[in-house]
Amino acid sequence: MKGVIFSELVRWVEEAFSPAVADAMIVGAAVASDGVYTNVGSYPHEEALALIGALSELTQKPVPDLAHSYGYWLSARFVALYPEMFDGYTDAISFLRDVDANHHREVKKLYPDARTPSVVAVVDGQELVVSYASHRPFADVAHGLIRGYIHHFDAALEVVRDETAQGPHAARFVLRPLPADG
Ligand code: HEM
Repeated sequence: MKGVIFSELVRWVEEAFSPAVADAMIVGAAVASDGVYTNVGSYPHEEALALIGALSELTQKPVPDLAHSYGYWLSARFVALYPEMFDGYTDAISFLRDVDANHHREVKKLYPDARTPSVVAVVDGQELVVSYASHRPFADVAHGLIRGYIHHFDAALEVVRDETAQGPHAARFVLRPLPADG
């Protein structure tokens, strides 16, 4: 998996916890790269799982919650790192419908060895159904990213994860309008 996902993970831990926790996570995970990642490099995704596992031990927070929080935070980092991928998008639904066709396609142009997950979004009446599938087990990160973009575009949508779908390699998220107040 591309180094940007790892370098941002370390940055997130530094900001959300502390630099000392980030260092302890890297030591605890005993990863081959020693926590040194370049955005263009590629590293086994197992290293990300080891890092989050070590963070879970240090913080006593469950791995799925940490992965979700990281995805939520990462959504805003992508805006800063890849602003051109947001050009022309003014709403969450249009943006989320274009992950395979646009954003992850652009990622593959930037990083030809990237193996991005499948993210298929289909409009169903008032709802948008986003299906995630990957050879990697990052459905919780996907959930956090989706919630992050709903926040980014200030959309009045709630996200319900279909618990019958298989995780963590595949998941289905139903986005529907928030009930009106009152
Ligand atoms: C402009 C927006 C986006 C950018 C720039 C982006 C970028 C990336 C990059 C660079 C990777 C690493 C790929 C690799 O190493 O092979 C990745 C993986 C991933 N992306 Fe995106 N992405 C975007 C939007 C999304 C959205 C909206 C979702 C939500 C479903 C998503 C879900 C994921 C997940 C879960 C992974 C982890 C790898 C895996 O599960 O196989 N991405 N993305």
